[in-house]
Amino acid sequence: MPPALIQVFQSNPDAIRDELAQGLLASVPCIAPKYLYDPLGSKLFEAICELPEYYPTRTEAAILDANLAAIAEAAGEGTTLIDLGAGNCAKAAKLFPALRPRQYVPVDISIEFLREAMDALQKRFPGIAMLGVGVDFSNALVLPQQVARERRLFFYPGSSIGNFTPEQAVAFLHSLRAACTSADGGLLIGVDLVKDKDVLDAAYDDSLGVTAAFNLNLLLHLNRLLGADFNLRDWKHRGFYNETQSRIEMHLEARRSLTVRWQGGQRSFKEGERIHTENSYKYTKAAFVALLERAGFGNVRAWTDERQWFMVCHAQAI
Ligand SMILES: C[S@@+](CC[C@H](N)C(=O)[O-])C[C@H]1O[C@@H](n2cnc3c(N)ncnc32)[C@H](O)[C@@H]1O
Repeated sequence: MPPALIQVFQSNPDAIRDELAQGLLASVPCIAPKYLYDPLGSKLFEAICELPEYYPTRTEAAILDANLAAIAEAAGEGTTLIDLGAGNCAKAAKLFPALRPRQYVPVDISIEFLREAMDALQKRFPGIAMLGVGVDFSNALVLPQQVARERRLFFYPGSSIGNFTPEQAVAFLHSLRAACTSADGGLLIGVDLVKDKDVLDAAYDDSLGVTAAFNLNLLLHLNRLLGADFNLRDWKHRGFYNETQSRIEMHLEARRSLTVRWQGGQRSFKEGERIHTENSYKYTKAAFVALLERAGFGNVRAWTDERQWFMVCHAQAI
C-alpha cells in the first residue's frame, strides 16, 4: 500500500492569483520562492544538487554522514521526524538507520513530487510509519492530528531557512518551538555560512544554466496559475551574492521593454527591470546560534565541514 499523504491546505486559486498579481504590480516586483516548486521545478532543483558549483547539498550530506553517531546521540532514537520541505526525502533517508524514527512526516508544497519520493522511500524502509503532508508552511505550519505529538524532531535541511529574512526566520523557528509539544522536542537544521562571493555567485548562476532554467520555470508556473503570457525568451536569470545584505538574490530580468498580461491585469516592464524571486541569507555560526536562542531553542550543537562552508545544528526546545 502506498504511504498516506494528507493535503492540508486547500489551495484557493483566487487567493493565489491575488497574491501573484499584487507581487507583479508592486513597485519592486516580487514573487515568493515557493512558486519555484511545481513538478518540473522540483526536478530542476534535484538537478541543481548535482552541479559542481552547487556545494550546499553535497557539503550538508557529508556533514550528516560524518557526524551521524553524534547527531543520533543529540537527537535520540524513536522521534517523530518532521522533514520541512522534504523534496526527494534523500537527506532524511540518510538519517533513518541511526535515528530510527517512530514516525516520518515529510512536508512539502510540491505534492506530486513528494508522493513519488515517498512511494520509493516506503519500499526501501517498510518498517517506518510515514505520513506525507502537503502544505504551504510559509504562513503557518499546520500539521494534521495524525502527526504524533511526542518527541518531535523538526528536520529543516538545505539552508531553506535562508529564504526568510532573519526576523521572519526567528518567527518561523519560534513557531517550530511552539509545535514541539513536549519538552523533549528539537530541531536539526542545515545552514549555509558566509563565504567568498565568487563561490556563492557560481553556486547560484552555474555554467550549465540549470539554475537559470529553475528560475525561468517560475514564469511557466505563473502562466498556469495566473493565466499570464510570459514568454521565457524575453527574460534572463540573475543570481548573485549581495554582500551588504549577506544574501543571495535571484531575479528575472526583462531582456527588452515589454508588457505582460494576465486575467484581470497587466504590467509593463522596461528593459533591465527585474522580478525578485528568491533570497538566500547566509549566516555566521554565532549569528545563527543567537537566532536559535531568540526563538526558544538551546543546548545547540553544531557540526561543520573542513572549509566551514555549511553547518548542521541540533537544538533542543527549552
Ligand atoms: C531548497 S529545496 C530543499 C529540498 C531538500 N529538503 C534538500 O535539502 O535537498 C526546498 C523544498 O521546500 C519546498 N518548499 C518551498 N517552499 C515551501 C513552502 N512554503 N511550504 C512547503 N514546502 C515548501 C520545496 O517544494 C522544496 O522541496
